Amino acid sequence: MAKKLPMLVFALALVAAACGGGSSTETPATTSPAEQSTEAPSGGGDVAAGEKIYVGTCAACHAPDGTGVTGLGKPIVGSDFVAGLSEQELVDFIKVGRDPGDPANTTGVGMPPKGGNPSLSDSDIADVVSYIKSIN
Ligand code: HEC
Repeated sequence: MAKKLPMLVFALALVAAACGGGSSTETPATTSPAEQSTEAPSGGGDVAAGEKIYVGTCAACHAPDGTGVTGLGKPIVGSDFVAGLSEQELVDFIKVGRDPGDPANTTGVGMPPKGGNPSLSDSDIADVVSYIKSIN
């Protein structure tokens, strides 16, 4: 019976890691899981870093203030789509984009995967997502 406890702790660590995208699965034992960034109330990403990525990769189509550019990209400020998805769901969306042939496409213009910047890492995208959530 003493053997079952470590397994349970490990399973909890996995759950915590999956939810927080946190550091690692090492012994959470008595430490609290609240060691995530205190700067980004909206989620795990770094808003300031995300703003830089937004300006560099997304602003051309979505405008520097996120209000969109007609014929290029929709407004993401005030977007029900952005408001309705979790940060993780938005990360998944941005990785894939939205092809003009996608039934969900509303403008006939495509959103390229990763905004057309394949060098963005998952963590870069998480930062951008935190940024666009922060301006919504
Ligand atoms: C080449 C232009 C282009 C770039 C660059 C681009 N997007 Fe888009 N994006 C679009 C288009 C076009 C749509 C709308 C597709 C449609 O008609 O549904 C869109 C849609 C979106 C949506 C969904 C909005 C909604 O209400 O449905 C989000 C969120 C978004 N983009 C985020 C980003 C982020 C973040 C980046 C930078 C990493 C980015 N986009 C870069 C063109 C672009």
